[in-house]
Amino acid sequence: MRALDLIIKKRDGESLSPEEINYLINSYNRGLIPDYQMAALLMAVYFQGLNASETNALTAALAESGEVLDFTSLEKIVSDKHSSGGVGDKITLVMAPLVAAAGVPVAKISGRGLGFTGGTIDKLESIPGFSAELSVEQFMALVKENDIAIMAQTERLTPADGKLYTLRDVTGTVENISLIAASIMCKKIAAGANAILLDVKTGRGAFMQSKEDALNLAEIMVRIGKDMGRRIVSVVTDMNQPLGYAVGNALEIKEAVETLSGEGPADVERLSIILGGYMLALAGKVRNAEEGQEELLKLLKKGVGLQKFKQMVASQGGNIDYLEDPSLFPRAKFLVEVHAPREGYLREIDAMRFGKVAVLLGGGRYYKGDEIDPSVGVVLKHKVGDKVKQGDTLACIHGNDEKIVGVAHKDLVHAFTVGDEQVEPSPLVYGVVPPFPC
Ligand code: URA
Repeated sequence: MRALDLIIKKRDGESLSPEEINYLINSYNRGLIPDYQMAALLMAVYFQGLNASETNALTAALAESGEVLDFTSLEKIVSDKHSSGGVGDKITLVMAPLVAAAGVPVAKISGRGLGFTGGTIDKLESIPGFSAELSVEQFMALVKENDIAIMAQTERLTPADGKLYTLRDVTGTVENISLIAASIMCKKIAAGANAILLDVKTGRGAFMQSKEDALNLAEIMVRIGKDMGRRIVSVVTDMNQPLGYAVGNALEIKEAVETLSGEGPADVERLSIILGGYMLALAGKVRNAEEGQEELLKLLKKGVGLQKFKQMVASQGGNIDYLEDPSLFPRAKFLVEVHAPREGYLREIDAMRFGKVAVLLGGGRYYKGDEIDPSVGVVLKHKVGDKVKQGDTLACIHGNDEKIVGVAHKDLVHAFTVGDEQVEPSPLVYGVVPPFPC
C-alpha cells in the first residue's frame, strides 16, 4: 500500500477499506507517513467525507494507536461522560460524583480548555494540590477504590489522535463531522467504559452552533459507539447562555460545590440530574431515566454527592479545606460590574463572549503551556428571562490586570440583549439520541 494512491482514491470520491485506513493511521503514528501527505488526505476527507464504515474504521485505528483500558475485572458497568465543550459547563463536577455515589463507577478522562470553552481539568487544578496527571495504573486503581477518578489526557491513550488533531488544527480540517466524531469517540473507546453519555452542546457558546449539526454529530457518535459494542446515549443540550452563573476555574468549583450542597443554580442542578439519570439507566442501575433522576435528587439532598466529590479530590491530592470553605480560594484584585443599559427583560446572554473574556482574563490559554489564573472569570447576576432595571448589575468581572478588566468590560457590555417583552429561556435539552429507553 502507498499513501499517495490512497490520497488519490479519496480525492476522487472513492471509499477506503478498513485495512487501508488502518495502514494510514498506523504508519502516520509511527512516523512513516509525513505530515504533508496526511494533510492532503485530511483535506480530501474534508471535501469527500467518510461513510459509516470508514468512520468506524478510523475510530478503531485511532483508539488502537495506544493503550485501550479494560475494566472487566471490576465486574461492574463503568461509565464515562463527555461534553462537546461549553461555557460555565461544570456539569461533570456535579454529575460524576452523584453517579458514583449511586454505585455506578465513573472513569473519566477529561480535557483542558479548548478555545473559548472551559476544561474540567483546569477547573479541578484550581484546588491546591489536586493532580489530574495520573498514570493509567493509578487511574484504574482509584476507579476501583472510590468508584470515581478524573484524569487528564495522556499520550499513552490515542497518540495518533493527538498528532492528527494538531495537524487538523493547522490545516483547516477540524470542522468535518466524521473527523470530529472519530476523534471524540476514539478517546471514549480507549478509556474503557462500557456506558458512555455524550452531552453535545449547541448554541452561541458551542462548537456546533446549529441544532441540526449537533443532532447529526450525536447520531454519528451513537452509531459508532453501538457498532463498537458500547451502551451509549447522546443528549443535545443548550449552550446559548452560560450554564449557571460562574465562568472561570475556581469560581466554577465554588458553584459546583454549592450545587452539590443543594444551593446551586437551577439549570446546573437540573441538567446534572437529567444527564445523570440517563447514565444510571444506561448502566442498568435503574429501570429508566426518570427513576435515575429521582435517585440522584435524593442523593443530592442527602449531601452524598458532595462527600463523593471530596473523596475524589482528596484521593487525587487536593486540599478539601477549599471545598469546605470556598472563601479560601484566592480572590481576583479587581471586581468590576457590568450594568443594564435600560429597563426590560434579558433576552440573550452571549455565552461565547463570556468564554472569550474568561480566556482574556487569564482563565484559558492562547498558547500551549500558558499558565492559568484560577481566580479570574465572570459571575453573572441575572439569566435570560429575568426582569432588570436600568443600572442593575448584570455581571461582575473578576480580574488581576486592570487594563484587561477594562477591555473585558467594554466587550461584555455587548453580551447582553435587553428587550421589552418577556422571554422564556431556551430549553435545557433539545433531543436524545437514540430516543430513550433504547
Ligand atoms: N473534540 C475532540 O476531541 N476532537 C475534535 O475533533 C473536536 C472536539
